[in-house]
Amino acid sequence: MVSAATIAVFLLCCYFSASSGSQDDCVYAATGSSFTVPLKHELKESANLRWFKDRTIIFYRRGKYVITGKNDYVDSTGSLKLTRLTKDMSGRYIPEVTNADGLNVGHLPSVRLCVLDPVKKPKVTMTCIEAQKNVSFSCNIGQDDTIEWLMNAKRLAEKGKTVMRVAKDVANSHFSCNVSNIISSEISLPVQQNCYKPVFPDVCDTDVCIPVRSGAGILLLVILTAIVCCTHKKAKVIKDKNELPLKQQHHHQKQPVGRVPEPDFCADCGLEGDNRI
Ligand SMILES: *[C@@H]1O[C@H](CO)[C@@H](O)[C@H](O)[C@H]1NC(C)=O
Ligand SMILES: *[C@@H]1O[C@H](CO)[C@@H](O)[C@H](O)[C@H]1NC(C)=O
Repeated sequence: MVSAATIAVFLLCCYFSASSGSQDDCVYAATGSSFTVPLKHELKESANLRWFKDRTIIFYRRGKYVITGKNDYVDSTGSLKLTRLTKDMSGRYIPEVTNADGLNVGHLPSVRLCVLDPVKKPKVTMTCIEAQKNVSFSCNIGQDDTIEWLMNAKRLAEKGKTVMRVAKDVANSHFSCNVSNIISSEISLPVQQNCYKPVFPDVCDTDVCIPVRSGAGILLLVILTAIVCCTHKKAKVIKDKNELPLKQQHHHQKQPVGRVPEPDFCADCGLEGDNRI
């Protein structure tokens, strides 16, 4: 059952989010940059132009005569030029045009300007925890900034100031944070853990190591097989020499049932041709 109270709370929430959401109509600009508030009206030479910031008049030109502010506050179309923006220049800029006879030409669109500092380049710091087993990376971010973590340039799900990992699992991984606000973003330099130190340090990275390691593994396997089968064969040759007459007699029946056929490379074990089976 949806109670009246629930509806009331819901409406109240809507009301508050609507009223506190007045920031939403902001046009954002970075500190230090320039911004022009357009005058959406074709000015006659005889017209009077006023620009307000919130309730304060900042520019007034009556015909050709500038009464408040300076001539270069506006461009040839009457649009307001704001340069070297600072945060206290945030606010609503409202134009007002009257004809020579003093009549208002009507409502003209205003602009709410929000000046924000661009984000600073963030820095990642690494901390070893729990007897070097875990590693934590943290990123210094401003309170209104959003963060994104990158591990080896791939985005992570975490959105907090810190990420934690088992050090061994990320032994050679690079962590960086991407900090952004509505007007800019910056990425930190990548940082690696130094909590876990492998016994045999890896000089190659994952892309190289997998093929290298599996290649080395296969090679090792081949060598081992060769050694085993050569030893085996040498032992057999000695044995066969003792049983030579028998062997010659039953050359074709010699292969006992169930014997595993020996790989081809056993032929290259350095045995004499006539010692082969
Ligand atoms: C170490 O990391 C593991 C895996 O992320 C986590 O479960 C554990 O709680 C961490 N230990 C500490 C002391 O933070
Ligand atoms: C950093 O974050 C910004 C804002 O979300 C995004 O536009 C940008 O592509 C990100 N950069 C990287 C390298 O992920």
